[in-house]
Amino acid sequence: MQDILQMLEEKRAKARLGGGQKRIDSQHKKGKLTARERLELLFDEGTFEEWDMFVEHRCVDFGMQDNKITGDGVVTGYGMINGRLAFAFSQDFTVFGGALSESHAEKICKIMDQAMKVGAPVIGLNDSGGARIQEGVASLGGYAEVFQRNVMASGVIPQISMIMGPCAGGAVYSPSMTDFIFMVKDSSYMFVTGPEVVKTVTHEDVTAEELGGAVTHTSKSGVADLAFENDVEALLMLRRFFNYLPLNNREKPPVRPSQDIATRLDFSLDTLVPENPNKPYDMKELILKVVDDGDFFEIQPDYAANIVIGFARMDGATVGVVANNPLVLAGCLDIKSSIKAARFVRFCDAFNIPVVTFVDVPGFMPGTSQEYGGIIKHGAKLLYAYAECTVPKITVITRKAYGGAYDVMASKHLRGDVNFAWPNAEIAVMGAKGAVEIIFREDKGDPAKLAAKEAEYKARFANPFVAGARGFIDDVIQPHETRKRICRSLVMLKDKKLDNPWRKHGNIPL
Ligand code: COA
Repeated sequence: MQDILQMLEEKRAKARLGGGQKRIDSQHKKGKLTARERLELLFDEGTFEEWDMFVEHRCVDFGMQDNKITGDGVVTGYGMINGRLAFAFSQDFTVFGGALSESHAEKICKIMDQAMKVGAPVIGLNDSGGARIQEGVASLGGYAEVFQRNVMASGVIPQISMIMGPCAGGAVYSPSMTDFIFMVKDSSYMFVTGPEVVKTVTHEDVTAEELGGAVTHTSKSGVADLAFENDVEALLMLRRFFNYLPLNNREKPPVRPSQDIATRLDFSLDTLVPENPNKPYDMKELILKVVDDGDFFEIQPDYAANIVIGFARMDGATVGVVANNPLVLAGCLDIKSSIKAARFVRFCDAFNIPVVTFVDVPGFMPGTSQEYGGIIKHGAKLLYAYAECTVPKITVITRKAYGGAYDVMASKHLRGDVNFAWPNAEIAVMGAKGAVEIIFREDKGDPAKLAAKEAEYKARFANPFVAGARGFIDDVIQPHETRKRICRSLVMLKDKKLDNPWRKHGNIPL
């Protein structure tokens, strides 16, 4: 018996060594942690239960039958993150470059299936040279099995991808179907085809970092949600992020009691919006002042910054925040910001997270690049997302809510539950100047008359009371009481029930 126990320990020790000390050293030299070190950081100490440590590949081509490393390039299992269950796979670059074989894919699928059965999130730590080249189509089949599960799990359990090394070719499509993609700066990249293929096909000279690094994907393409400095920061932030999420679509979001009382007033909000309606202000200041403890976990801060999205807590419970930011493009909605916010609203809706929307939007962005780029279709994504959304929706108009953008931004008409406006809000088809130039076109040569008409239009429409008179706004509130009023509304909405009609699925404009 003693021999058998010792043999098990030896087998385990061998598996833990992955591709060997030399390759582990090389991984460290690149500033990267190993697959197991990453899992140790991600999970609460001593809680990780590893599965399938002894799995091997079944490839017999290119001498692979004599080249087997137990575990086959991925560490899988489950553990606790701040006491809450999560499943994870962590690709081991020291074993065949973390390349995905049929067996490697089966390990990932096994934990995804189990996570679905018990209702817990799946976290993927990606560090892989892609499909295992020696295996050919068996490996491609493995990818597709993972993809299929990504789709089945979508909206059922949160799926989070952390890119911590190469992620190229077919490998990008599993993370792309997960809910959030985070990347590590300088050591990770994602692209469909690498720099050499790009050079051959389009004659562009580009480095891997420029083509698909963390900065590129969090500022240019919007593929990734956040970029972190190194593995340690990335994993610690992932633990923080995890705290906001429910474990599955049947759970309510977690509650973290806070000392920040729900009725707290903030009088500095009364002077946040400048007198001059064309002057910008930072919407993030408002968010920080309204949410619990000024703690806001922003997502995609460097992409389409004209809209702000992220998670916060109000009276302890997670909320999703969506806010136009007048500091960037005057807070206009454009293609990128519509897509960014639409996907976020749909995540919140899928996982029972109330959506709090702060509105200061002068309209949709005009121009040929927007029209040719399909702003009609992409803007409709946000409209669709809000209209379909059945979780509690609370909206605060802080200044402008013009035109179609007024409708889009969680208006009463899209089943907004509680719609507030600040007293300085302007809810109209457009700004007074533009409106007067159109309806009094014949008075173009008479600036005095136009000025008078503009003042009349402003007095008539540039306020929240016309909308209030129709019940489109539930109340006009003092800026300083915004937190209190939102928290109170959230309590009222705690057990909200609303179902959309039965259908196979809607047809969101893609
Ligand atoms: N299949 C099988 N083995 C692979 C692999 C793959 N897709 N990708 C990497 N490896 C192996 C390498 O052969 C090497 O093995 P070794 O340690 O026994 O020498 C090990 O993984 C590390 O790869 P290496 O190329 O030395 O690392 P690197 O950091 O210099 O480069 C990559 C990393 C990913 C850029 C490079 O390995 C690569 O281009 N891989 C192929 C990518 C690809 O085309 N994948 C298929 C498309 S999905």
